[in-house]
Amino acid sequence: PESVRRDDEGRLTVAGLDVVTLAHEVGTPAYVIDEDDFRARARAFRDDFAKPFDAVTGGADVYYAGKAFLCTAVAKWVAEEGLSLDVCSGGELAVARRAGFPAERVGFHGNNKSLDEIRAALDYGVGRIVLDSFTEIQRVADVATELGVVAPVMLRVTVGVEAHTHEFIATGHEDQKFGFSLSGGQAFEAARDVLERDSLDLRGLHSHIGSQIFDTGGFEMSARRLIGLHARIADELGHHSPEIDLGGGFGMAYTSQHTPLSPGELGEQLADIVGRELKVVGDGDLRQVPRVSIEPGRAIVGPSTFTLYEVGTIKQVDLGDGHTRAYVSVDGGMSDNVRPALYEADYSCTLADRSSEAEPMLARVVGKHCESGDIVVLDEWLPADLAPGDLIAVPGTGAYCRALSSQYNHTPRPPVVAVRDGEARVIVRRETIDDLLALDVAES
Ligand code: LLP
Repeated sequence: PESVRRDDEGRLTVAGLDVVTLAHEVGTPAYVIDEDDFRARARAFRDDFAKPFDAVTGGADVYYAGKAFLCTAVAKWVAEEGLSLDVCSGGELAVARRAGFPAERVGFHGNNKSLDEIRAALDYGVGRIVLDSFTEIQRVADVATELGVVAPVMLRVTVGVEAHTHEFIATGHEDQKFGFSLSGGQAFEAARDVLERDSLDLRGLHSHIGSQIFDTGGFEMSARRLIGLHARIADELGHHSPEIDLGGGFGMAYTSQHTPLSPGELGEQLADIVGRELKVVGDGDLRQVPRVSIEPGRAIVGPSTFTLYEVGTIKQVDLGDGHTRAYVSVDGGMSDNVRPALYEADYSCTLADRSSEAEPMLARVVGKHCESGDIVVLDEWLPADLAPGDLIAVPGTGAYCRALSSQYNHTPRPPVVAVRDGEARVIVRRETIDDLLALDVAES
């Protein structure tokens, strides 16, 4: 987070609170989220991203993707900052509901929503359910009929674009589980199917092309294809889809290698692209300009959080080439951040409880789990006087860390602690061994 500083004693501080005090209060490991930083990023998407769309589509809506990280407090922040919320399971839906999130601003995703989840969503009154298959069209229509409501729905379209970081590939075949294929004509047929049903209201078209993306080439391609479909539905089925969602996937900087576009720059580029594509299809009555929405998760929550660990053991390993590497074990690991093991994700870290003038040593920060792939930071220079009991901070752990966490090796999960104006507040409490034992039916 931007508020991180060093105080006079060399301790890291976040939002005015030093991490030594924080570690005493809440223990380690802990996810530490800077509330104002989160709110500022959310606002930047709501305002700076959306502004360039005013002239093009009458504005843009931003759905925070709860899958990156969600709890009741965060859902409240998102609501207060005026964003909408994307949920993708009955569990996330329950969090939204508990937070009192305005139902019409909730979108519900997933490629295999259960009947209970669909019932819960319609009972809550969500603003849109994103349909992913013909099976699901029938399923949602059935539940809506059963409840006597009209379900607002969007169609997830497989636009044949796959984007990862700087590259995207546009493919004709669409061999993946999400959405209705565009090239095979399924997306159009799905629109026809939805339009023939009284219990469904087609609100728009949706695509999501990947995650941790740094340029807008892939979005350009997917916008072009969605707008083409929008026009065809208008012409051949006589229906105006009021919304086009370009999904999430906007990249963040994990290390200094990446420079993401700011929300404002992203908004300008995407509004330009959408404006151009809309001109291409022209605007007849039913081809009226649809509103645009996006679903960023990582870019909002990722940078707002760091994980605080305590150093346990340090071991020097001879690399055989005259060099050594220090293996620094911390009190967490792949159970609280599986991304290095799962995606070879790169993180960095820094000594947090003091500053040091000692020589740098090549270090690998590892977790406490029984697996050699349990790596927290692959390579980092840490001061040679690093000692057990020191604290280290790993930045950029807000997205898909707590969300993907596990209890591997019967490890209780760390708390999430929000810091604001020098005060810490636990927003997700630490799990205890008793929590774990409580699930285990001893009499069985
Ligand atoms: N919308 C949809 C439909 C999505 O599937 C996703 C992410 C998002 C929005 C948000 O994407 P974001 O802006 O956060 O990139 N576990 C992986 C990331 C999986 C993303 C899945 N879908 C990771 O840790 O990198």
